[in-house]
Amino acid sequence: MKTKILMVCLGNICRSPLAEGILKSKVDDSVIVESAGTGGWHAGETPDPRSIAIAKENGIDITDQRARKFKARDLDAYDFIYAMDNSNYRDILSHAKHTRQTKKVKLILNEIYPGENLSVPDPYYGGDNGFKRVFDMLDAACDKIAEKLNAK
Ligand code: 4NP
Repeated sequence: MKTKILMVCLGNICRSPLAEGILKSKVDDSVIVESAGTGGWHAGETPDPRSIAIAKENGIDITDQRARKFKARDLDAYDFIYAMDNSNYRDILSHAKHTRQTKKVKLILNEIYPGENLSVPDPYYGGDNGFKRVFDMLDAACDKIAEKLNAK
């Protein structure tokens, strides 16, 4: 059985596409990694050009990704759901009906700062530097996630 992981942010064009691409680069094909946004405004779009650029600088191609909106069924379809920020986290949990679902949902930065409940800042309205910071945070968090997955 493959392990299915969903990365979730607001628009699914900046942060979660990076998280998807970064984690994919660290795990083998026994792990399926996808992403979604709690908002649907950008559905069908490619990632933000600034996310594409910072990924490319790091040898990761995310141009094949297309944004989609998070749906309640995702709480059954995935084994782990990583929220990029506290607002996404609350939004995802608002769709959960059982603890079987709630216990799958995690804040991604708790992987590197356990229990601190920190958010990956939304870089959408900032400059390119924000995207580099976001990349580095997600890279560190995905190292931890991959360590656990690869140890299975
Ligand atoms: P993301 O960034 O959640 O990291 O994809 C955003 C992208 C678009 C919007 C908000 C956040 N937006 O409001 O359109």
